[in-house]
Amino acid sequence: MADNSKDLKDLKYNDTCKRIWIIGASSGIGRALALGYARAGHRVVASARRAEQLEALSDQSDRIEALPLDATRIEDLRAAVDDLSVRDCLPDQTIYCAAIYQPGGISALSHAAASDHMAVNYLGVVALIEALLPALKERGAGSIAITASLTSYCGLPNAALYGPTKAALLSLCETLRPEVEQMGLRLQVINPGFVTTRLTEMNDFEMPFLMDEEEAAERIMKGLDGKRFEIAFPSRMAWLLRLLSWLPYGLYFTLMRRMAK
Ligand SMILES: NC(=O)c1ccc[n+]([C@@H]2O[C@H](COP(=O)([O-])OP(=O)(O)OC[C@H]3O[C@@H](n4cnc5c(N)ncnc54)[C@H](OP(=O)(O)O)[C@@H]3O)[C@@H](O)[C@H]2O)c1
Repeated sequence: MADNSKDLKDLKYNDTCKRIWIIGASSGIGRALALGYARAGHRVVASARRAEQLEALSDQSDRIEALPLDATRIEDLRAAVDDLSVRDCLPDQTIYCAAIYQPGGISALSHAAASDHMAVNYLGVVALIEALLPALKERGAGSIAITASLTSYCGLPNAALYGPTKAALLSLCETLRPEVEQMGLRLQVINPGFVTTRLTEMNDFEMPFLMDEEEAAERIMKGLDGKRFEIAFPSRMAWLLRLLSWLPYGLYFTLMRRMAK
């Protein structure tokens, strides 16, 4: 049972009540996570660009604090880490949920749009790691979870801008996990399937195994309590896409051509 009586600054690492920092908390899965962790008695620092949404979120619980920032600006992330550090409030668990998404194939692909997607979805994570890891390493404790997607497993129709950013995140997390572990820290990757948020509102195709953001948040919170590298859900969708990624290319592209129709 979490201890609800403590302030953010009074918590110690490994207390049952933890400090959770969520980047991308102004809507969707990140917002549901912020509310879920607060309900469970933890202290949440909620970040994203839209300060008004964050303030409205923090009005819903005195355990949620708004810390607006733009994850494409490393100076914002450095300032946030410094702020938390100075107040002796470094997070026990950091969750990166920030992303943008524009569906489409070749017609959506442009250098400008791909750069925008990379800046938030991938380089924001690199900036977070650069800004936060030294402080966590010095403390010798802390967990970071990065939200990628099941689309990280293989190339899929309609994901020309978004898919490659998520594949890059999975590769980055696989690469860094052993080193991060040697520092006494934890790095996990979250790979959700389709969740009803403003991102999926843009999809005009059928989304199998669609779930709501509260259910997604519950699965993530449960997964982050464990030590597994990957939190992937729903499992049927995860298995289907894993199998797809293992197929010989001839068969894979036959299926992709059918899906693209
Ligand atoms: N929904 C799905 O089906 C699904 C499936 C797989 C993976 N995911 C992943 O789950 C995560 C959450 O997405 P969601 O579906 O919940 O969508 P969402 O509601 O649009 O949430 C995205 C969050 O990212 C924030 N964000 C965007 N650009 C930012 C920036 N430059 N700096 C800081 N924050 C920024 C947004 O807030 P501001 O606009 O206020 O900055 C928002 O809080 C994303 O990583 C997404 O790729 C979603």
